[in-house]
Amino acid sequence: MKNTEELVIQALKSAARDEQMKHAVQQSTELYPLLWKAAKRYVTGEKRQDALPMALEFIAKDYQISIELIGENTTDLVECQKVKDEFLQLIESMGASSMKQTVSFDLSHIGLSINAELAYKHLVDLAQKANQYEITLMISMEESSKTSDTLDIYKKIACQYSNVGITLQAHLYRTEDDIKQLIQYPGKIRLVKGAFQEPIDVALKRSEALNERYLHYVEQLTNANHPISIATHDEVLIQEMEQRQYFNQPNVEIEMLYGIRPDLIHQLKAKGYRCKVYLTYGREWYLYLCHRLAEYPENLFLAVADIINPAMLTRSKDY
Ligand code: FDA
Repeated sequence: MKNTEELVIQALKSAARDEQMKHAVQQSTELYPLLWKAAKRYVTGEKRQDALPMALEFIAKDYQISIELIGENTTDLVECQKVKDEFLQLIESMGASSMKQTVSFDLSHIGLSINAELAYKHLVDLAQKANQYEITLMISMEESSKTSDTLDIYKKIACQYSNVGITLQAHLYRTEDDIKQLIQYPGKIRLVKGAFQEPIDVALKRSEALNERYLHYVEQLTNANHPISIATHDEVLIQEMEQRQYFNQPNVEIEMLYGIRPDLIHQLKAKGYRCKVYLTYGREWYLYLCHRLAEYPENLFLAVADIINPAMLTRSKDY
């Protein structure tokens, strides 16, 4: 059974990176609406106008929120410009509703797949606009082939804008060194285990050793009083961090993806900890859905149930 599960995880993670399959799903008038029913568990809707009212509902319940226009690996210049414009509009809309919250994105969605200069140029535009409304930008972390470029761009922007933060993946071996440097920059660090399939000499698999590393990095960041977002759904890790009193520290927040463990984040918020829900919207949910299924293969059953009976979906009322 273990082997079958590992095979399924591997297959889903490979499918996540398969641009041809992604394109086929997104263009198909049959597959897109079918799989969209499963994606809707994790994605608020196809448009900004779906995510924003949901964001307000969460804020009214005392959660903080991140919002992402979902997508990555954009290789068309005009498309990158459009994506940047959509992010600018998202920031404007959040500003108009006094949402001093977070906007998240992949650098490869706004230009990194064309070149680093374009991604940086677009990032500066977003950071300027976000700064105006006291909105934080959080750069997501993609495959390890993009880590160096992503960190170089982050280091450049972080010198000008303290409202820009960076995501680090505990599973990468290089994070041990990266974190020592990044702690010198003011931006928030979001610590995740890492969603991408990586070669064994680059990253650790899910294991006790990875959990220990995760805890070690959280300790390093909290000891330095560095702003940190603890982004995990791992209840055992969360219990350990709670015992160590990390969540009581003023610079620490707990962040979970929309649709995953609403019960757990609700309990943590009830204890008075700062809790953030990560909301996504858009049509490019293919890779995101594959990752959510690969992380927890039981979700495949939920996906089937959601396709057959969409009324079962998680919504903000479950939080
Ligand atoms: P892990 O995968 O070790 O699972 C531990 C337990 O958590 C499971 O046994 C289950 O109980 C629960 N769980 C985990 N995933 C679940 C799921 N999908 N459904 C139901 N239960 C689940 N990654 C990345 O590479 N780059 C990034 O930029 C980001 N950004 C990001 C932001 C935020 C806010 C979060 C929460 C996560 C990310 N990730 C990410 C994803 C991250 O790297 C990781 O893949 C997932 O969080 C799953 O790992 P966990 O630490 O949650 O637990």
